[in-house]
Amino acid sequence: MTPIHISFCCTNTAPEPWLSGLRTALPQADVAVWQPGAPLAEYAVVWAPPQAFFDEQIALKGIFNIGAGVDALLNLRLPAQAVVVRLEDAGMAVQMAEYVCQAVIRHFREFDAYASDIRAGQWTFRKPRQREDFPVGVLGLGVLGARVAQALQVFEFPVLGWSRSPKALDGVQTFFGQARLDDFLAQTRVLVNLLPLTPATTSILNRDTLGRLKPGGYLINVARGAHLVDADLLALLDSGHLAGATLDVFRTEPLPPEHPFWQHPAITITPHTSARTLRDESIAQIAGKIAALRRGDTLAGLVNVARGY
Ligand SMILES: NC(=O)c1ccc[n+]([C@@H]2O[C@H](COP(=O)([O-])OP(=O)(O)OC[C@H]3O[C@@H](n4cnc5c(N)ncnc54)[C@H](OP(=O)(O)O)[C@@H]3O)[C@@H](O)[C@H]2O)c1
Repeated sequence: MTPIHISFCCTNTAPEPWLSGLRTALPQADVAVWQPGAPLAEYAVVWAPPQAFFDEQIALKGIFNIGAGVDALLNLRLPAQAVVVRLEDAGMAVQMAEYVCQAVIRHFREFDAYASDIRAGQWTFRKPRQREDFPVGVLGLGVLGARVAQALQVFEFPVLGWSRSPKALDGVQTFFGQARLDDFLAQTRVLVNLLPLTPATTSILNRDTLGRLKPGGYLINVARGAHLVDADLLALLDSGHLAGATLDVFRTEPLPPEHPFWQHPAITITPHTSARTLRDESIAQIAGKIAALRRGDTLAGLVNVARGY
């Protein structure tokens, strides 16, 4: 069996379990943590690698990102012949579905207000709200957005979705392309962002777009911090047009201590944890794709570098 040379270059990731998992899944693989001057590898498993990695690793055939979002990776100069492969689901979609459903339900059922009443020793009821008044619009109907749209239907919310190209999803009112964005927003009250970060989507959550949501709108941003213009969200909360937001991602992470999102009463924040990379699922997917590439099979999850996702 011809050996496979894999270079591992992932920041903030303990390498040992990944190396042993990859060696078990691909017994003919020689897997090593990258260091400057390391021998050339055919495949790379990366997360936030330095430019120096690609400047040296000029023989790569495949670059495997251990996440779904490739925005940071595509800012680097990559070897032209290498394909870039992102994780598809690998256990993230169900996590994203549970995160978004809990945020929608927490807001719709006013559970934060109940929690604060209970802390104050008050046994109070709120008038039930109609779920037809809370249509949920999902920006991005890819691997994660489609799963979220499907999960929301279990709770009988009206669900809308917006993507770049046309999509048909059972029970979801779909819109596509820039020309239909305003129609989609006008019919949405709870907006969930699951777009990739590209030049076309940077700052897409701004005063104009968020201002088009139905009155009492609510934002759930689980994609990337740079999708959101922070000051515009704060202004729309202050004006009362938006009722609140749940944010998992931020322009600067960790969120700086002085940032107003920390203390804002209508904003719930979490530390970029809505859908974590699961090691075993990811290793199995990457090993399967390396084997498929070596056989010359067509691969799902290939990133279109020109398109940016
Ligand atoms: N917070 C977290 O923990 C976490 C975890 C994982 C991922 N993420 C984020 O979630 C994002 C989505 O992941 P995914 O796996 O679902 O991505 P994906 O499969 O690539 O889906 C992207 C979706 O966005 C749509 N889209 C892209 N550009 C668009 C544009 N300009 N206008 C309209 N629609 C556009 C695509 O439309 P088409 O279908 O027409 O191509 C597709 O439906 C990732 O890029 C990452 O940033 C966050």
